[in-house]
Amino acid sequence: MRIFFTGGTGKAGKYVVEHLLEQGHQVTNADLEPLGLDGVDDLRVDLTDVGQVYSALTAPSNQGQLDAEPYNPPYDAVVHFAAIPRPMLESDSETFRTNILAHYNVLEAATRLGIRKVLFASSETTYGICFAQGDRKPLYVPVDEEHPTVPEDSYAMSKVAGEAVAQSFQQRTGADIYGLRINNVIEPHEYEEYFGDYLKDPSLRRRNVFAYIDTRDLAQLVRRALETDGLGYEVFNVANADMSVAAKTDEILRDFYEGVEVRRELGPDETFYSIEKARRVLGYSPEHSWRDVLADPR
Ligand SMILES: NC(=O)c1ccc[n+]([C@@H]2O[C@H](COP(=O)([O-])OP(=O)(O)OC[C@H]3O[C@@H](n4cnc5c(N)ncnc54)[C@H](O)[C@@H]3O)[C@@H](O)[C@H]2O)c1
Repeated sequence: MRIFFTGGTGKAGKYVVEHLLEQGHQVTNADLEPLGLDGVDDLRVDLTDVGQVYSALTAPSNQGQLDAEPYNPPYDAVVHFAAIPRPMLESDSETFRTNILAHYNVLEAATRLGIRKVLFASSETTYGICFAQGDRKPLYVPVDEEHPTVPEDSYAMSKVAGEAVAQSFQQRTGADIYGLRINNVIEPHEYEEYFGDYLKDPSLRRRNVFAYIDTRDLAQLVRRALETDGLGYEVFNVANADMSVAAKTDEILRDFYEGVEVRRELGPDETFYSIEKARRVLGYSPEHSWRDVLADPR
């Protein structure tokens, strides 16, 4: 596929771009900063400027394409990852403005140009736990895609609003548009950097519903979503199969989730961030775990 990838220079995007390239896809990375990866076309684009978005989506992205006769844009798919990735980096209003404007522009341009597959990065923060003031618990566990999305912070608000925008463009065009409610992204080298502390103190992971997503499994999910057609508008939780802590699920329920409805029995290490839908609908099957790198202290 010819894929227009936004935010491919970022923490999550660079792993996904590399994986898509390995799978034989052609990738153009639209970002404020170049990725600089061999085989990927970098276009410097400010996605908050709708003119730049249309222009980038319809122009050649490398010299070789100048010889194609006739040149045949646009792309087969758009994967939209570019964003300010959390609150407290910029002012709240700037975070909301950048994220929703870039998202609207990408969705509008992609669908009006007839692109039939758009994936976009939503977030676990839509469920309202991650950046809540104080200790907010899920309404029930495991947290699945039916859980209410009423967050308190501007970043998560931009993601909830982005889901509404995406659903509306899907309604108008019938394109396949899938939102990925990505959990906390962990790069392979971060297991050794951070997980020692997480294994000792599970409270450090309370705001992430004790879950995480390995960049390589995120890349797998994006690939599977690109390969799965005909779903219309859908959202998917994205996480690994186990928790990011050594504590067992019954201990977490006892220590952190008093009064929270438990909707089904959970395995001793099973994530509270349900990935059943991604498994069932996309064939997602996470392959990585912190246990590949660190000894389980239990
Ligand atoms: N990192 C996480 O734990 C996490 C969790 C859930 C969801 N997400 C979402 O996944 C996506 C990727 O996150 P990340 O951690 O890789 O973030 P990141 O900040 O590392 O990367 C985001 C990229 O977007 C680019 N960008 C920002 N504004 C832009 C603009 N106006 N025009 C063009 N490019 C712009 C940045 O230059 C950067 O390369 C984001 O949408 C984020 O909200 C991230």
